[in-house]
Amino acid sequence: MSASTAASAAYIVAGLLFVLSLAGLSRHETAKAGNAYGIAGMAIALVATVGLAWRDGDVLAVGLIAAAMAIGAAIGLWRARIVEMTGMPELIALLHSFVGLAAVLVGWNGYLSVEGAAASGAGEAEELGLPVGIHSAEVAIGVFIGAVTFTGSIVAFLKLSGRITSNPLVLPGKNALNVGALAAFAVLTVVFVVSPGLAVLSGLTVLALALGWHLVASIGGGDMPVVVSMLNSYSGWAAAASGFLLDNDLLIITGALVGSSGAYLSYIMCQAMNRSFLSVIAGGFGNEGSTAASGDVEGEHTEVTAEEVAQLLRDADSVVITPGYGMAVAHAQNAVAELTRTLTDKGVEVRFGIHPVAGRLPGHMNVLLAEARVPYDVVLEMDEINDDLATTDVVLVIGANDTVNPAAAEDPASPIAGMPVLHVWEAGHVVVFKRSMSTGYAGVQNPLFFRDNTRMLFGDARERVEDILRAL
Ligand code: TAP
Repeated sequence: MSASTAASAAYIVAGLLFVLSLAGLSRHETAKAGNAYGIAGMAIALVATVGLAWRDGDVLAVGLIAAAMAIGAAIGLWRARIVEMTGMPELIALLHSFVGLAAVLVGWNGYLSVEGAAASGAGEAEELGLPVGIHSAEVAIGVFIGAVTFTGSIVAFLKLSGRITSNPLVLPGKNALNVGALAAFAVLTVVFVVSPGLAVLSGLTVLALALGWHLVASIGGGDMPVVVSMLNSYSGWAAAASGFLLDNDLLIITGALVGSSGAYLSYIMCQAMNRSFLSVIAGGFGNEGSTAASGDVEGEHTEVTAEEVAQLLRDADSVVITPGYGMAVAHAQNAVAELTRTLTDKGVEVRFGIHPVAGRLPGHMNVLLAEARVPYDVVLEMDEINDDLATTDVVLVIGANDTVNPAAAEDPASPIAGMPVLHVWEAGHVVVFKRSMSTGYAGVQNPLFFRDNTRMLFGDARERVEDILRAL
């Protein structure tokens, strides 16, 4: 078997492992296996790619790949060790920017070694197995998607890490600007295919960098989770475009898998947040000001002590815990798991209700609860638990706010009107764990805190849960 046949076989195996990885990651029980499949697929892909360079006797290329892998692995290990769960979205956004930048560099390299070399007559132009026009189109599309992903991801990183405001940028005629940029891209691509010049590619790159920046800058903080997942999708398409340029089938397959699964996740998240998918990808089109804070909610709240909550729980037959971002901030998951075990041992039925966008990244709560060894079968999705909340004795809202806001379901004037939420207010008693009366991520007041059956337990969520455990 020749080396290239072996590499093709290895790529097919790696592609299958990536599909298995995605399938595994879609369920709690199989997520670890999914990760293992992904790692195995990537290891096989790397060995096959380096092996091909080795077969060609390209010692410099092998040395460069080895050096890049060593440096990348060292930085990756260091970042993965120190990153807080709360800092994951911005880290992911930053990683997407690297994929975008890589696609831009691959596109420019493709241009310089084919069209550029042919035009200048300096050195041999690379041999192509396809018409130059198609290659030029691949360069233009790859550079465009990569550059949009690059600057879009940088803006997402800056917004999520609080380095710039998360308010949407509203330039006059912003939708016309976006549509105009897309039209200009189409024209420049045609010009580049007909006459592939340095100036045209430079103009196209600058245009795409500006469009990526503007698209994400126009999106408000409330929609950022969808944007990060959308940028994940773009980074996949950018990788696929690079795959065409590098004539690498595995990169095309992997890029398409990332691109389509990221787009599907974005669609699911838009549904969970009642956002229009098209409006989010079009830079907040028709959604202006949707994340602005609403007016104050009138009413008085009632405080409760940890001992009183312990008594409520002792008297309960059924308890539902709805965790949110505050559980992550307080690192309360282990105490919550301990509370679950204690109550279960006392014969109380304890289940969890997880909102699809609770926390700050997809699956945030599921990861924390799995880490604290909460059994998967008591962790239910919002749609699975919502109908049972009316017959639940006590709901413990641990560091959640927007995801349990009745205004979303009941107040058409609310900025989050229509967003599906956990109907915790229908339960017999609701205990809200938080440190103050401040709003959640969307900056919207929560009338739940003033309901007759709601009690506020103020303080750090982990400390309060530990107080309850002591009282129990
Ligand atoms: P949020 O609405 O963000 O509310 C979290 C609450 O936790 C806050 O009201 C805060 O109140 C409380 N809190 C913070 N630290 C705490 C601590 N140490 N102890 C106790 N409480 C603490 O949370 P949520 O219900 O999970 O909703 C998530 C929001 O984030 C949604 O608006 C969603 O759209 C958005 N978002 C989601 C994602 C994804 S993909 N999940 C990504 C980005 C944004 P105090 O300050 O008073 O304590």
